[in-house]
Amino acid sequence: MHYIRLLRPLSVESSSNRREDTLSVLLTITTDLGDSFFSPDEPLALGLVLESADGAQKGKVLACPADKGSPLQWRAGMRVLKAQLRLRTPLPNEKTTVRIFARSHQSKAPSPRPYWRHGYEEEPTELVVPVSVDMVNRRCAPVSLRQMPLPGRGDDDDAASDGNGHDLALGEDIGESIARHIWDAGLVTASFLSDSCRSADVMAEMLPMRRHDDQIGILELGCGVGVLGTTLAAVVFDAAAAQGRSLRSAHVLLTDVDEAEERARANIARAEARPPCAVAAAAELQYENLDWDDGRRGRFGPRTAARGWDLVVLSDCTYNVDSLPALLATLRALHYHSFVHDGTDTRVLLATKPRHASEEALFGLLHEFGWSHRVARTIPLPRVGAEDERVDIYVLTRGAGREETGAAEE
Ligand SMILES: C[S@@+](CC[C@H](N)C(=O)[O-])C[C@H]1O[C@@H](n2cnc3c(N)ncnc32)[C@H](O)[C@@H]1O
Repeated sequence: MHYIRLLRPLSVESSSNRREDTLSVLLTITTDLGDSFFSPDEPLALGLVLESADGAQKGKVLACPADKGSPLQWRAGMRVLKAQLRLRTPLPNEKTTVRIFARSHQSKAPSPRPYWRHGYEEEPTELVVPVSVDMVNRRCAPVSLRQMPLPGRGDDDDAASDGNGHDLALGEDIGESIARHIWDAGLVTASFLSDSCRSADVMAEMLPMRRHDDQIGILELGCGVGVLGTTLAAVVFDAAAAQGRSLRSAHVLLTDVDEAEERARANIARAEARPPCAVAAAAELQYENLDWDDGRRGRFGPRTAARGWDLVVLSDCTYNVDSLPALLATLRALHYHSFVHDGTDTRVLLATKPRHASEEALFGLLHEFGWSHRVARTIPLPRVGAEDERVDIYVLTRGAGREETGAAEE
């Protein structure tokens, strides 16, 4: 998949009479790894709209650039796109969201289904992940945003993803660094779980409610910006209802190394602050550092140690073969901890986009560490060029009787 990525914050310049603003944009369209640039057969027109960010007018288009001959156009061979866009109306001082997206053939407006969804059609809008950024007092915020559509409450799904509020916004770093941003497996798995959260069959397989005490604990390893865990926090009550259960409480804990903490915490705050989003009213969503080099020894912070975990989730964390032993030992230590703490038999949902043959080492290690695994879903990714790409979602189980091998590594 390819993502529109801002290489530097947007900047605004006013003409001398202040009647006209020019917006400077520097962006690229690249993969999550930053290892290849989007190379379409036909030039891809990008759209840019300025929308009101808050209040009843949220999502209302305030301004578009004067569009003489498609100034934002991405062609094969490009590595960056630099543009100066003349705005038809001056940028307001109020908080405003700038959305940049791949335009479909039919419409200049952002797609109401802006992300990859299962059952996608091969429209350009589905091939390139759009980006947003907030401008406050005409200054660009230092993070860009990925909108994550959630199923509506009382609406149908398309109405819910029309940009009018039933969504999450995940902040990413602006610039060339590939750290602190969303990866394919996280985005695709979060979209799939969100789209399927009212399906009893899919949820019974992916997010089963097994306890009798109407609560669930979900821990995410290597959360990055938090796309998977934050989405789960937003949909877990729907997932329980789909299985005929009414949850009293749900606790979702995002974990990663300390470099990830600031961005993950900011995204939790963003999710909780968004009024239409159910996160605040539903799951308790928290963050704690958990480095697998500590986890492998059963060294957990107070939040991780405080309860048994029904489900551990992770996405795109298995591509670095060197870190697999520490990761697998951490999973084992969490399983052991949960069993000893309150008899919980932890299951694992592991999503991965296979990138290299060396990653097959995961399956040997899973066996060695006592996990049974099965593919619950294989999801093909929007395809550009000849390469077939996919995300595999595995369910791992170990069984409560396996605790004799569960002692933490010294
Ligand atoms: C490719 S990113 C995936 C991020 C996120 N899960 C997603 O799908 O968007 C891998 C994540 O694993 C984390 N990670 C790598 N080594 C780790 C370790 N030893 N302990 C904890 N997290 C680690 C990184 O910080 C990074 O956030």
